[in-house]
Amino acid sequence: MRSRLIALFCVLSWVSSYLAQPDSTDKKLFESFGSDFKWGAACAAYQVEGAWSLDGKGPSVWDDFTHRRGKVKTKENGDQGTDFYHRYNEDILLVKKLGLDAFRFSISWSRIFPEGTGKINPEGVEFYHKVLDACQEAGVEPWVTLYHWDLPLALEKKGGWANREIVQAFEAFVRFCATEYGTKITHWMVMNEPAAFVGLGYLAGIHAPGKISIRTFLKASHHVCLSLAVGGRALKEVLPQAMIGTTFSCSTVQSVKQSKRNDKAVKRMDALLNRLYIEPSLGMGYPSEDLPILKRLKRYMLPGDSAKLSFSFDFIGLQNYFRVLVRSNRLVPVVGATRIRPEKLGLPVNEMGFEVYPEGMLSILRQFSEYPIDNFYITENGVCVNDQVTENAIHDGDRIQFFRDYLSRVAQAKKEGIPINGYFVWSLTDNFEWNEGFRPRFGLVHVDYSTMKRTIKDSGWWFKALLAD
Ligand code: GAL
Repeated sequence: MRSRLIALFCVLSWVSSYLAQPDSTDKKLFESFGSDFKWGAACAAYQVEGAWSLDGKGPSVWDDFTHRRGKVKTKENGDQGTDFYHRYNEDILLVKKLGLDAFRFSISWSRIFPEGTGKINPEGVEFYHKVLDACQEAGVEPWVTLYHWDLPLALEKKGGWANREIVQAFEAFVRFCATEYGTKITHWMVMNEPAAFVGLGYLAGIHAPGKISIRTFLKASHHVCLSLAVGGRALKEVLPQAMIGTTFSCSTVQSVKQSKRNDKAVKRMDALLNRLYIEPSLGMGYPSEDLPILKRLKRYMLPGDSAKLSFSFDFIGLQNYFRVLVRSNRLVPVVGATRIRPEKLGLPVNEMGFEVYPEGMLSILRQFSEYPIDNFYITENGVCVNDQVTENAIHDGDRIQFFRDYLSRVAQAKKEGIPINGYFVWSLTDNFEWNEGFRPRFGLVHVDYSTMKRTIKDSGWWFKALLAD
């Protein structure tokens, strides 16, 4: 019996690796992007670095949040991450090995300023020099995000993003990084997905700092929008030649059943998830017409703020994972809509319950193409699947299929003339997925969390084969 099972397993493994080989359709798909298209992989400081209190690093809101009971489903935390702090060289060489051009990572604010402002931690500063030097040596372009959700805890204690003083503190952090690392970085992203960290952190309370308050959410939203523009301007001033961008999460919003009420619910949800943080930077102000609660933002605006919100980014990073299905529900505060769980409708979902809906990538790109933006990158897209771990290989055929489906929609958007110039996989390696812990695995590279051994998955080999071509 045992030997039959082993034989069956070997056959399945062989079939999986065969299916993982790029075919001629894959080759055509990759060729259609052209040779200037930028291919990369992304990660974020808190999710990979570990070394949470090493070498002078101050705590961040995520260190605090994950150490609180009941905040992370699996009771895990990012104390060790994937040990990127010690293994950055190996990871950067993996980027190279996979044939990718660029590596997107973020700088931990509290590694540099342990208290958020004031005293600088030289060992933290040195760490990112080492990472950047390793990129240069490997011939990999560093794409750096300045804020990927790990606010210094000291600042959160003063109110975090809901305290206007943060705008100044953020500007000082941005200026420091621009001056310190400017010669080594050409592509900067001011922030990662404001809708996610403000919405989940200050309104839904399921991400750090775990607050649930409409007032705090609105204040934080305004200060984040100001900081986006202030950060962009500071970078441009110090580094006029650099490419300055920022990233936004985006999801097509649709209703399950068409009705006037549901249509309005769609508009409200769309304003909240897709428009609230980008439109002020484009000089369009807040989308209060479609999401009336935003009219209250005026209470937190000072004279002259409207003009300060805009900044002309050199590129916009878009990050898409799922579609959002809603129905009107006046009882739900802020947005007056309930999200329908896709699995309830029998729709395909990934290991985190995100709907796998490639068409959504195309429709959201079409939606964003209505803005006057001439340079987009997909700065995150990827999927967590149930990887099949064998002794010599990691089979993740579902992830390969995901990339085929999503990339073909990106290619279609490009064909339609939407200026998309690159695609970054989320993520290079498996890592700590916020309040979900280590269970969801998004990597092109598998990490064995007991040994920290890295193994390229079939999807990584698939990318490599296609990019080498
Ligand atoms: C994004 C986030 C990443 C990663 C990804 C996968 O929203 O920027 O840090 O967690 O989701 O869920």
